[in-house]
Amino acid sequence: MRDRHLHRLERAARAAAERGLAAVLVGPSPDLAYLTGYEPMPLERPTLLVVRPDASPRLLVPALEAPAARSAPLGGDLELLAWRDGEDPYAAAARLVAPAGTLAVDDRLWAAHLLGLQRALPAARFVPASGVLGGLRAVKDPEELDRLRRAAAAADATFEAICASGLAGRRELDVAAELAELLVANGHARAAFTIVAAGPNGASPHHEPTERTIRTGDAVVLDFGGALEGYHSDITRTVVVERAPEGFAAVYELVREAQEAAVAAVAPGVPIAEVDRAAREPIERAGFGERFLHRTGHGIGLEVHEPPYAVAGDPTVLAPGMTFSVEPGIYLDGRFGVRIEDIVAVTPDGVERLNRADRALRTVG
Ligand code: CO
Ligand code: CO
Repeated sequence: MRDRHLHRLERAARAAAERGLAAVLVGPSPDLAYLTGYEPMPLERPTLLVVRPDASPRLLVPALEAPAARSAPLGGDLELLAWRDGEDPYAAAARLVAPAGTLAVDDRLWAAHLLGLQRALPAARFVPASGVLGGLRAVKDPEELDRLRRAAAAADATFEAICASGLAGRRELDVAAELAELLVANGHARAAFTIVAAGPNGASPHHEPTERTIRTGDAVVLDFGGALEGYHSDITRTVVVERAPEGFAAVYELVREAQEAAVAAVAPGVPIAEVDRAAREPIERAGFGERFLHRTGHGIGLEVHEPPYAVAGDPTVLAPGMTFSVEPGIYLDGRFGVRIEDIVAVTPDGVERLNRADRALRTVG
């Protein structure tokens, strides 16, 4: 554990130097957990990790948080600087960095803290830290891959279990609650999200489950995931209750074809934007391009959504160890939605699907 975090801090410092950054400032966030294993709550009192190319990392913490910070995985290796209530923490942070340098600030840092830093460092330039840390986090090490694999297997098992439970006659809300329980029963520490979108509700990609009762002839979009040892699952399957609605089967096959084409495009050296292109091509050819409302996928790891993104314009070139979702969809207002989503990992010679649940159209009771 300790060695892994020290290694990540070294790589972050090196990456900062390569980009000409004076420092990377990281508050409570997945970035902080990634670099140090320390996971405090974000608070109005700032906690800031300061990573510099030319000096050892320091952790600025509110004095009352210092005992917790000291007992964190890297607590003994980080130089801790405690500030007390009544002192100006931003002035304390300013003393740790070059006053006119470029500072990368983690994307989750509260605006109040960034404004405090800008006040204390009027000559500094601020840029998002995802530009430097996103690339490091995108490539998973073998232990991270193992956690993502186990999270995906737990999500697959959850899908099988909810199909066995049946959907007919149940409210979306109740199915969502059971999905959350099943995610935990199958090995997740917690559920992160559960989308159950029946019939016309499926046409809204991020539909919030409602009191609507699921009935015969509904297509149901099930999109759910949880965290296992800090790493996330995210799977979508679209099933039909007893029989498919009018026009559904052809749209389902189209989405399945698009998902297969996109997964087949994944390999080291391929721009991730081409994976998006591969999913879009058959859907556009069939005239549903306007109904594919979102990008094809997102990186996944400590966060459900993190770089890289499978979308036109993302400059990422795929490398072994990258993990992301492949989730094309077609959404027909007033009728139904279809989405099929798996997590994939880039391997040295191609792609590994982390989700294995069957993608053939499933009819449930
Ligand atoms: Co999803
Ligand atoms: Co997703």
